[in-house]
Amino acid sequence: MKVLTVANRKGGAGKSTCAAHLAVEAANAGYKIILIDLDPQQTLEGWWNKREKDDIDLMEVKSLNLSDQISKLSSSGFDLCIVDTPGDASENAKAGINIADLVVIPSKPTAPDLSAIGRTISMVEEAGKKFVFVITQGMVNTNLGFQASSALSGFGKVAPAIIANRASYARAMGCGDSASSEDKKAAEEISKVWDFVKENIFETSAFKHKKKLIA
Ligand SMILES: Nc1ncnc2c1ncn2[C@@H]1O[C@H](COP(=O)(O)OP(=O)(O)OP(=O)(O)O)[C@@H](O)[C@H]1O
Ligand SMILES: [Mg+2]
Repeated sequence: MKVLTVANRKGGAGKSTCAAHLAVEAANAGYKIILIDLDPQQTLEGWWNKREKDDIDLMEVKSLNLSDQISKLSSSGFDLCIVDTPGDASENAKAGINIADLVVIPSKPTAPDLSAIGRTISMVEEAGKKFVFVITQGMVNTNLGFQASSALSGFGKVAPAIIANRASYARAMGCGDSASSEDKKAAEEISKVWDFVKENIFETSAFKHKKKLIA
């Protein structure tokens, strides 16, 4: 099982929306998914509670000693654990980053958000974790998203599609669904973001497997 943690110290970056939408993409692709919501605001858990489909599981955590709990999930047949974290540098946020195989850092393409992202990158690097960026809430018909992608590409890999600011995402979070059910454009971009995340989180094991065969 791989652990994908969504983190950004900046509030409202789009972490929970990203976590929920990636979970639906992964579940639709046949992966067995478990969610962990480490944010006391419980946005992801609230979304999951409203979800009608029984295709994604959620684990309540009782303590921040997560490694044992993660090992148990691994042996229960889950393929991917998606962890949502609070928009701060709390122990909860650190605990989520510490168990990650890959940290997804969503960011709005705006100057205040981009200039704050260095502190999240430092936090993830201090934990020695691999990370990628996803631009979220991109304004349609502006090139802010592309400018943000090119600025962030100096620090790490950036998802090839931008998650735009669309009412369908906000609605989906209110009813436990994915924007892709009602919005073709959202469906296209979130599917590209999932393909990118999937490659980045599962590539390490593919590489190990290849080396093993050669050896
Ligand atoms: N792509 C989007 N299009 C439209 N609205 C969005 C999009 N992404 C997020 N939002 C809205 O922006 C707000 C913040 O999003 P979200 O809760 O995902 O951010 P967050 O980083 O998890 O916030 P927090 O730091 O408070 O946990 C929510 O009201 C959400 O519905
Ligand atoms: Mg959140």
